[in-house]
Amino acid sequence: MSDSGDTTAQQRVLPVPAMGLVVLVGVSGSGKSTFAARHFLPTQVVSSDAYRGVVSDDENDQSATGDAFDLVHRIVGKRLRRGLLTVVDATNVQREDRGQLVRLAKEHDVPASAIVLDASDGLVRERTRLRTDRDIEPDALARQQHDLSRGRAQLDKEGFRRVHVLDADEAGTAVVELEPSPHDRRELSGPFDIIGDVHGCRAELEDLLTDLGYRIERDDAGEPTGARHPDGRTALFVGDVVDRGPDSPGAARLVMNMVDSGDAMCVLGNHEHKLLRALNGRNVRLQRGVEQTLQQLESRTAEFRERLREFCDGLVDHYVLDGGDLVVAHAGLKEAYHGRSSGRVRSFALFGDTTGETDEQGLPVRLPWAREYQGKAMVVYGHVPTPRPEWVNNTICLDTGCVFGGELTALRYPERELRRVPAHRTWYEPTRPLHEESTGT
Ligand code: CTP
Ligand code: MG
Repeated sequence: MSDSGDTTAQQRVLPVPAMGLVVLVGVSGSGKSTFAARHFLPTQVVSSDAYRGVVSDDENDQSATGDAFDLVHRIVGKRLRRGLLTVVDATNVQREDRGQLVRLAKEHDVPASAIVLDASDGLVRERTRLRTDRDIEPDALARQQHDLSRGRAQLDKEGFRRVHVLDADEAGTAVVELEPSPHDRRELSGPFDIIGDVHGCRAELEDLLTDLGYRIERDDAGEPTGARHPDGRTALFVGDVVDRGPDSPGAARLVMNMVDSGDAMCVLGNHEHKLLRALNGRNVRLQRGVEQTLQQLESRTAEFRERLREFCDGLVDHYVLDGGDLVVAHAGLKEAYHGRSSGRVRSFALFGDTTGETDEQGLPVRLPWAREYQGKAMVVYGHVPTPRPEWVNNTICLDTGCVFGGELTALRYPERELRRVPAHRTWYEPTRPLHEESTGT
């Protein structure tokens, strides 16, 4: 490839989330319908012109625009609810029109991408002159060009995950690359050993892995460097591997090595989320256990801290596994959010169904989502320490407060068998007593 600034069109690769909304943006004649037909299935493309035709027998009847968009939005909503890739083929030159579509994507917790077809005014005028399928007034075209140019600079602040801008040459050669959702690991069926909140209790983690039948590898100093199950089982951590406990770096090292060697998977916990911010140099409150971790990390190398930072940064907020029968998220996840990605999905997965209010101890008030859960997937999570794991509507919380002197718990999947090991001691005094029920406030 040449970077000498010559005019040869280079093939652009456009990554587009496979579960999401694609908003085409461009004036009449910029090539939206041509682009859509080349890259997407006919059923994936929802065209305002087509629905103008459906409701009025005339694709050019501007009086039918309101009804046509009514249908476009309804169809887009139906498809997004099913998690289907959907492309909107309309000019979308007005900010409000794009805003409605971004809101629709948010409502269904899927990302929206914009693909802007930025053909030159001259080319568009020439194409328009040659078109036989449509009669576009020069004034109308000029208005569209004006509207689009007004919003262009701010487009990437409208809530799109990505904005791809293509000139006419690029539009002709670009390839669309569908990105699978990082949450979707339905192809993995385990068997899994799902492990509750470790919180730096490295020794208890070794006990539990040993109890589960894992063989632990160690370095010369005796620190665990890996663990493998002879039957090829996968350990699956519900997050909060770090903070509060005596050896967060050691626990994290073992988990990271197991993930790297394919012996484990791990979802993001709120404590990794906070640690990541601290390691990124952000200002975080040095309380609730992150202060211990940062102190323990001082005796580790800069490379180790960077590796841990990258690890936390790469963690996904939930996984959908085993053909959709198993969902693992740190604080649980209601069914409508399974496999979805949005701010509120992430916040639910990390912190649970919180009201945004806090109790007298300054801790978040939680809603009992599990009591209302009717989904088909088993949801396995942690986050709320509870003395005994309890099944609630095919959901189970595995945080048995090891760091508070309780136990470290694993759930064997698909066997549904619980294994637990006791804490060696109380490592951290709890702010409030362990709940009798995992779904309490
Ligand atoms: N066209 C072309 N070369 C391209 C893209 C489009 O010659 N690379 C032509 C098409 O054949 C069509 C016209 O330009 O005659 C407009 O393209 P179209 O894809 O229909 O443009 P849209 O942006 O969909 O226009 P509208 O908003 O009017 O539907
Ligand atoms: Mg078109």
